[in-house]
Amino acid sequence: MTTPNLPAANAPQLDGTVNLADLEALGKSRLDRNALEYYASGAGDEVTLRANREGFRRLRLRPRVLVDVSNVDPRTEVLGLPLSFPVGIAPSAFHGLAHPDAELGTARAAASAGSVLTLSTFSNTPIEAVAAAAAGRFWFQLYLYTDRNISAEIVRRAEAAGARALVLTVDAPFLGRREPNERHRFALPPHLSVPNAGSREQLRALESESGSQLVHYFQGLVDKTVTWADLAWLRGLTTLPIVLKGILTAEDAALAAHHGCHVWVSNHGGRQLDTAVSSIEALPEIVDAVQGQVEVYLDGGVTRGTDVLKALALGARCVFLGRAALWGLAAGGEAGVRRTLELLHDEVRLALALCGKQNVGQVGRDLVRR
Ligand SMILES: Cc1cc2nc3c(=O)[nH]c(=O)nc-3n(C[C@H](O)[C@H](O)[C@H](O)COP(=O)(O)O)c2cc1C
Repeated sequence: MTTPNLPAANAPQLDGTVNLADLEALGKSRLDRNALEYYASGAGDEVTLRANREGFRRLRLRPRVLVDVSNVDPRTEVLGLPLSFPVGIAPSAFHGLAHPDAELGTARAAASAGSVLTLSTFSNTPIEAVAAAAAGRFWFQLYLYTDRNISAEIVRRAEAAGARALVLTVDAPFLGRREPNERHRFALPPHLSVPNAGSREQLRALESESGSQLVHYFQGLVDKTVTWADLAWLRGLTTLPIVLKGILTAEDAALAAHHGCHVWVSNHGGRQLDTAVSSIEALPEIVDAVQGQVEVYLDGGVTRGTDVLKALALGARCVFLGRAALWGLAAGGEAGVRRTLELLHDEVRLALALCGKQNVGQVGRDLVRR
């Protein structure tokens, strides 16, 4: 982790950034310790956090040559929604910690880049306002609460606002222990609220407790008894496609497909079970298990166009950015997220061309050596 509170003068400015690492440095330089540690940290020893990146780096590409790549087309579709390239934004809580634009900035950037935002239940901006800013380019991420009436109401609001899918996060019955947040007692600043889930009063009531405020808040709301059988309850509430986020094994992927759910391969950016398998390593067995019955997505450690291609080669339809989008937001609000997506878009195009691929449909397993 870099030193918090670097003077902004030491960091590149937005238009001087040439890659996502530059945006990360710039974004980090603009955050205080509370926000920086919340965004950056992983669980435990952060083995999985690092493994997500290393997993991509270890894979080698097998480029083909003498292909006409004068017109490379990186477009794709997720659940019928056209994307300008196979990259969306993963759900992350509290965009207001990064920039006053908060989720509205992320949503506008996703919309203008032809991407898709997955809005976290724990956003600082109400679903309806984000939906308007996202111009239909949004999915909604859900945790199931002990009080199912609250969950049902959130689903109803998301659907009415125009969400195109529900993303049920399944890897967090309890929050992983992110030790920097415990050590420094992560807390949501008083000017931010959580309008989709639980009240500011509930949050404030926990402020005298020790450790991360979020952990106490989350623990009080989220149902730890949820099983595969509860999917029927959710299915009964909505006609939207359901995506299960946080799948890491062939066994669970097969169960997800059996229940008619799409699969989002993720270890929550290394924030839940430390030493869990990296996302890119988990992907092939999952793709094999679902046998094309449902769509498969991936997040975790994506920072390069070549990462995107490797995930596609191993069978993901699209990848999602967690921290990379947050660093962009911190670096420059809506414009920072747009810059993140533009830089990655250009990298994906270039990587496709240099691999001898004219479009994402030509990307297959033979593109990577494992
Ligand atoms: C600060 C932060 C907050 C997050 N909040 C949520 C959340 O509210 N719901 C959720 O399903 N996942 C959440 N995640 C996990 C992301 O959706 C995603 O799985 C992860 O960040 C991907 O890894 P990456 O950061 O390496 O791209 C969060 C991740 C971060 C870094």
